[in-house]
Amino acid sequence: MLILGIESSCDDTGVSVVEDGFLIRSSVVSSQDFIHSRYGGVVPELASRRHIEVIIPIVEEALRGAGVILDDIDAIGVTQGPGLVGSILVGLSFAKAVSYVKGIPFVGVNHVVSHPLAVFLKEKGGDNRGVPDFPFVALVVSGGHTVLLLVEDYTRHRTLGQTRDDACGEAFDKVAKLLGLGYPGGAIIDRLAREGDPEYIEFTRPYISHGSLEFSFSGLKTAVLNYVRKQDRPLTEETVRNISASFQEACVDVLVKKCEWAIEGTGLGDLVVSGGVSCNSRLRRRLGEMAEKKGINLFIPPPHLCTDNGAMIALSAYHLLREGKRGDLTMNAIPTWEDL
Ligand code: KG4
Ligand code: ZN
Repeated sequence: MLILGIESSCDDTGVSVVEDGFLIRSSVVSSQDFIHSRYGGVVPELASRRHIEVIIPIVEEALRGAGVILDDIDAIGVTQGPGLVGSILVGLSFAKAVSYVKGIPFVGVNHVVSHPLAVFLKEKGGDNRGVPDFPFVALVVSGGHTVLLLVEDYTRHRTLGQTRDDACGEAFDKVAKLLGLGYPGGAIIDRLAREGDPEYIEFTRPYISHGSLEFSFSGLKTAVLNYVRKQDRPLTEETVRNISASFQEACVDVLVKKCEWAIEGTGLGDLVVSGGVSCNSRLRRRLGEMAEKKGINLFIPPPHLCTDNGAMIALSAYHLLREGKRGDLTMNAIPTWEDL
């Protein structure tokens, strides 16, 4: 069974052809970083317009890459939410149109829940990575979301905790912006932090309370802002590296500790971490150390499957379709997590 997965919830247009719910035949991601970088963050109207421009060529590229034509596709999976409503509408409208014209089913997918499921994707010639057992704990940490889930199976989950304000990746991006580092800032901070001192500034660790699985990153972001404003001279490159390392360490401390608490609270032995921030080298290292200490299994998809992509949407769609779920032409884009 061939599923066309379409992702357009934010600023990446991702389209993939996935066979039998796990094998990636092709996956194409068109990034809009070059559009949003000058603003230091995603401009929703520009994001929607760019999705409109690229969706058809990207679908064509994905089909070509998989060596198939549209007539070979059995069903479509498309991100229904959460995300930017104008961006979601482009992918959703496209999926509805193709479904209608070709007479094939489509199904709406929860973008956030599909992130950890990326761990089940396989690539032709790729290494034989292990997969977690259900149920498992998942941390999704990206530019739009920071949430801990208890994933019961491919289509069922419970939310254990999520951010009350900013997502962790958003905090990385905003701190990078105020340090004048460019957008998206996560990878830049990651790189600079390698040569910085993580103990240079003791930024606040927003744990909220002992054992809490909720997150908050807006105060940490403000703490960096206040620190920078208090300096009476321009920041040296060394200070920027030290601020990057100290800020990153505060984020990583919180993310790792909350994963540990989630593991302890649920008594589960498998942890999956996904979303753009899970590309962070320090976070990966610290999670690995924590997993070893606690004797649990840690799974992090390869970086290109941690960030937004159409393959994870196709994988989720496969399992939703197997359960008989179907979208119809009245289906709405749903921007908030709570309503999905
Ligand atoms: O999952 P993703 O591609 O899109 C969303 O759904 O948001 O995540 C993008 C986010 C951005 O905030 C970016 O700065 C962050 O992931 N990111 C990183 C790293 N690579 C990407 N954050 C920290 N360290 C990284 N190496
Ligand atoms: Zn995402």
